[in-house]
Amino acid sequence: MIRACVKLLANGIALTAVAPAVLVFLGATYLMGRQSAFPGWSQAVSLVPGFTGVYFRRAFYKLVLPRCGDDACISFGTVFSHPTVTIGHTTYIGVFCVIGDVDLGDDVVIASHVSIMNGSNQHGIGRLDIPVREQPGDWPRITIGKDTWIGDRAVIMADVGEHCVIGAGSVVTKPIPNYAIAVGTPARIVRFRTGETSDSTTVSPNSCSQKPASETIASP
Ligand SMILES: CC(C)(COP(=O)(O)OP(=O)(O)OC[C@H]1O[C@@H](n2cnc3c(N)ncnc32)[C@H](O)[C@@H]1OP(=O)(O)O)[C@@H](O)C(=O)NCCC(=O)NCCS
Repeated sequence: MIRACVKLLANGIALTAVAPAVLVFLGATYLMGRQSAFPGWSQAVSLVPGFTGVYFRRAFYKLVLPRCGDDACISFGTVFSHPTVTIGHTTYIGVFCVIGDVDLGDDVVIASHVSIMNGSNQHGIGRLDIPVREQPGDWPRITIGKDTWIGDRAVIMADVGEHCVIGAGSVVTKPIPNYAIAVGTPARIVRFRTGETSDSTTVSPNSCSQKPASETIASP
């Protein structure tokens, strides 16, 4: 009870403390557009250390993002590149992560130095007469399902379902179905948390789950 009151008070103080920053952000949004203004503010709030930073960032993102859940924890050095990112309740993001246009479900755990990018084709590479940076590509929005754990230094370039585990250092290049444990580069499913074999179909509804595992990513 006392703990809950202290947290409520701390959240209230944090919301008050970030209000001026949010007002300046809104001013910048008016002048340069939301997408241009947002990354710099995300970088700035990422630099506040310790518990103060956790409360400060949560308050800031609660006010500026479409969704930032209660008790979400965004650690030092983590930056978001898009103001459209959503963060679920009790979702934890470790230090120095870089996160694009992504939906993070509830109870997601993201370790440190994780990159979640929007697909793998941000630039076209087909033409040789103009630089890669000038060739348009695709930026699909990525979803990380609830209760999924992403290990340290993973690189995510496709949807990951609910209740999954992605091994440390893995590179996810294709959608991962619910309950899968996937490891390595490129990430391969080693087993399912439900005990099913890696070529079974998945069991609960979300964008990844309705596809059989064989349609999403090959087993080793
Ligand atoms: C994926 C993980 C949870 C283990 O899952 P598991 O189902 O218990 O897997 P196992 O340990 O039985 O390993 C299964 C196989 O995958 C391999 N493997 C496990 N983790 C791996 C990884 N991160 N990268 C590549 N291969 C990995 C194992 O070597 C084993 O291979 P083998 O069958 O050829 O011997 C664990 O290895 C991991 O990466 N945890 C993340 C830790 C982390 O980042 N913590 C940060 C703090 S939140």
